[in-house]
Amino acid sequence: MTNNFESKVAMVTGAASGIGLACTKQLLQKGASIAVADIDQSAITSLVKKLGDSFDSDRILPVQCDVSKRDSCENAVTQTVAHFGKLDILVNSAGISQRHIREGADFEESWDTVIAVNLKGSMLMSRSAAQAMKQNGASSGAIVNIGSIMSFVVYNESDGLSDGFNPYPHSKGAILQLTRDMAVHLAPHGIRVNSVCPGFVDTQLTDSLKNNPDLYNKLASRHPLGRFGTADEIAKVIVFLASDDASFVTGANWAVDGGYLAQ
Ligand SMILES: NC(=O)c1ccc[n+]([C@@H]2O[C@H](COP(=O)([O-])OP(=O)(O)OC[C@H]3O[C@@H](n4cnc5c(N)ncnc54)[C@H](O)[C@@H]3O)[C@@H](O)[C@H]2O)c1
Repeated sequence: MTNNFESKVAMVTGAASGIGLACTKQLLQKGASIAVADIDQSAITSLVKKLGDSFDSDRILPVQCDVSKRDSCENAVTQTVAHFGKLDILVNSAGISQRHIREGADFEESWDTVIAVNLKGSMLMSRSAAQAMKQNGASSGAIVNIGSIMSFVVYNESDGLSDGFNPYPHSKGAILQLTRDMAVHLAPHGIRVNSVCPGFVDTQLTDSLKNNPDLYNKLASRHPLGRFGTADEIAKVIVFLASDDASFVTGANWAVDGGYLAQ
């Protein structure tokens, strides 16, 4: 196994919480240097302080950025390369659901906002990162996008989570095509691109579902394994895909969903 990241530089977006945070910790444990990228400045500041207790702080770069903004993505990559000298790995974990949009927002504003973060954000950050990875010359690059079971199916009608116009499944369906398109066209540059499609996972993103235990339990029971996943379980697959152990895997979409899509 070469699942060793000691000479690697990674950027993780959405690094302050949930799946991005789990990836950040696992990559640090395996020796990578990390740009900890998130929109939430105060969360990054306290996270970086905490990580500094367990890991060499020279391997941690806090980067405040909004992935939905082109300049912000370009600056994040520029800062990372200026600090660490290169970029090998990008994990696009920043994401929101319709539940994050302000109460009373118009449906079009909600749709645009979710698409801007989940889809456009993954594209913008990947585009900037790929330019930096190409400059690594012969060394390999890896990008991992986060889709969802909602890349393949939609919310069950009886759950009341969509009226047919929920942008979340729309954004996650498109992640698959973004992944395939980038994989084919970045392969000649030695850059692999894959996506991971989680089932429901216990993170800040799904916290509000716990206010409705009946719905939470119903959603959990739709996974043949009978529960939500943990951020760590998703991160382990992301980290594998980012590693040189996955050197012949590109353009793939891996479900990590407790069997949700198998039925
Ligand atoms: N939790 C789930 O059930 C689940 C299931 C399938 C897919 N996913 C996907 O996994 C990814 C991570 O989700 P999570 O559950 O860890 O969520 P989370 O809410 O715990 O973490 C998301 C992080 O993204 C950051 N973020 C939000 N908007 C941003 C922006 N514009 N720019 C930069 N950072 C931003 C947040 O500040 C937060 O730290 C998302 O793409 C999500 O859609 C989650």
